[in-house]
Amino acid sequence: MNDARIEVCVFDAYGTLFDVHSAVRRAGSALGSRAGAISALWRSKQLEYTWVRSLMHRYADFWSCTEEALDHALTVYGGADPTIRNALLNAYRTLDAYADVRPALERLRDRGKRLAVLSNGTPEMLKQAVEAAGLADFGMLLLSVDGLRVFKPDPRVYALAGDALGISPQAISFQSANAWDVAGATAAGLHGVWINRIGAAPEYGGATKMLPSLAGLPELVR
Ligand code: LAC
Repeated sequence: MNDARIEVCVFDAYGTLFDVHSAVRRAGSALGSRAGAISALWRSKQLEYTWVRSLMHRYADFWSCTEEALDHALTVYGGADPTIRNALLNAYRTLDAYADVRPALERLRDRGKRLAVLSNGTPEMLKQAVEAAGLADFGMLLLSVDGLRVFKPDPRVYALAGDALGISPQAISFQSANAWDVAGATAAGLHGVWINRIGAAPEYGGATKMLPSLAGLPELVR
């Protein structure tokens, strides 16, 4: 990465800033031993629905994908009371931020980097999540795919970052915990950094920069 050229750090939201499994941790105690499996299937189906909808040209927003994925996951694992379903969805609107997020954003801000979020989430979801996680004071530009009516990794999504910020993709470092999302951003000309929080095996060519958390990012984009 040519560090001197990075002006803006753009972050994926779900899985990168916000811990998607914190909803089940917070509101899913009634799921008992099924909790972990339900949370994992919820996330994987949510993403699958975005890809399939984009390919079919049948956009429905990320909140709909999130609801449909939860309903599927609950059905697979024996169903759940509507009260639990609603509690899980409410918790998803106010997910926990990972502990490394705030310190990394502070250091990047102190170094003069502009900060933004680029996500499949709707504008309403992103605003609520950022506020609930106590990150509103960074004034991050919140960029949603919703106006484009297509999901990541369509190249138009990543082009949105440069267009909205008025800079070339080469001046953007894009961070995501999702390897496929980093691959999409890199293919669109941004500098991709894979935040490999779970120590997953390399994929999509493995050529991107990789960090175990956001803690090392301020050094990388200095
Ligand atoms: C997002 C999904 C990929 O925030 O988690 O865009």
